[in-house]
Amino acid sequence: MIRRLRDGLSPKAVAGTVARAVPVPPREPDRLSLNRMPHPRLWEDPEWRTAGRMLALPQEEGWYHRKAFEWTHCVYGLERLGALGPSKTVLGVGAGHECVLYYLANRSRLTVATDLYQGDFVDSVSSETDPEFLCNPQKYAPFRYHEDRLVGLPADGCNLPFPGACFDVVYSLSSIEHFGGHARAARAMEEMGRVLRSGGIACVATELVLEGGPHPEYFTLEELDEWVIRPSGLVPVEELDPEPPPRAYVDDPVWLPDQVLKTPHIVLAAGDLRWTSVILFLRKPGPAALLRGTPRMAARAGMRRLARLVPASRARPRRTNVGFANASDYFWSYSRVV
Ligand SMILES: C[S@@+](CC[C@H](N)C(=O)[O-])C[C@H]1O[C@@H](n2cnc3c(N)ncnc32)[C@H](O)[C@@H]1O
Repeated sequence: MIRRLRDGLSPKAVAGTVARAVPVPPREPDRLSLNRMPHPRLWEDPEWRTAGRMLALPQEEGWYHRKAFEWTHCVYGLERLGALGPSKTVLGVGAGHECVLYYLANRSRLTVATDLYQGDFVDSVSSETDPEFLCNPQKYAPFRYHEDRLVGLPADGCNLPFPGACFDVVYSLSSIEHFGGHARAARAMEEMGRVLRSGGIACVATELVLEGGPHPEYFTLEELDEWVIRPSGLVPVEELDPEPPPRAYVDDPVWLPDQVLKTPHIVLAAGDLRWTSVILFLRKPGPAALLRGTPRMAARAGMRRLARLVPASRARPRRTNVGFANASDYFWSYSRVV
């Protein structure tokens, strides 16, 4: 009982509870949603395609692949949110040697890639966790990059070897579902939230069950909230777009393991299970956002006196989006260099 009370009042639990009270902004009308599943429509958006081009990904008609979606959307979203720049530090968790790392090295002061760099994925088709990356990252570079701004480090995502609040951006793509079940994924999310600076952005892509769940490692929508968003103590930058991939892809999915090379590669199937990717951008609330949320939390908990003491701020939420025009300019000028 005492332990439950003590745990309930730990700074981490309080921060998590307060973060829940910070309102999640609505999606921006007339813009691509950031928190979403893959859809072929994305490949028709010129700015989104530019992000894919910057990663040197194939752009042919119909080459729809959810890995390309995750990599492209991660870069697109981080640029749209103004999260990158020459003063920023970036952490990749379960990053292997993915192409995004090399882009981020060009768009940060320092990008740190962490992964176990051992285990099952050493011998997978793409050898995602090839330990050679640690001493020879050039081996996988899809384009020229700032070699002095990318470093690899073996580390368990559930126990990150960094002090708190030391990265401006933390991201993890297609990885937390491989950490050993929902509780381990939640622990990794807690770690990502811990090492992120206040105001920093996290980007996480994982597996979303569309039909036939539950599954011990993948997530239904409800489980995404319980095991991914809540443990992080972070706040979604906008509401999740519930639009699933087109029905045709669910009815004619990629059957694993036999059809692993089939495209479009958007919805996967094994037995009754149908799943796809989901990507989330989350922000670590700064003190101002927490204060704005506090009255809501206080009111909810019935602490009306505290609510009166902390009046809701009249200030509008700060607009951190620098506008894609700048990032787009960056893309185009950079693409002339590579
Ligand atoms: C499907 S791969 C994805 C790699 C990379 N993010 C990409 O998209 O190409 C999953 C990765 O998670 C890594 N991984 C598994 N358990 C981990 C853990 N506990 N901590 C850190 N990384 C882990 C694996 O080594 C592997 O590189």
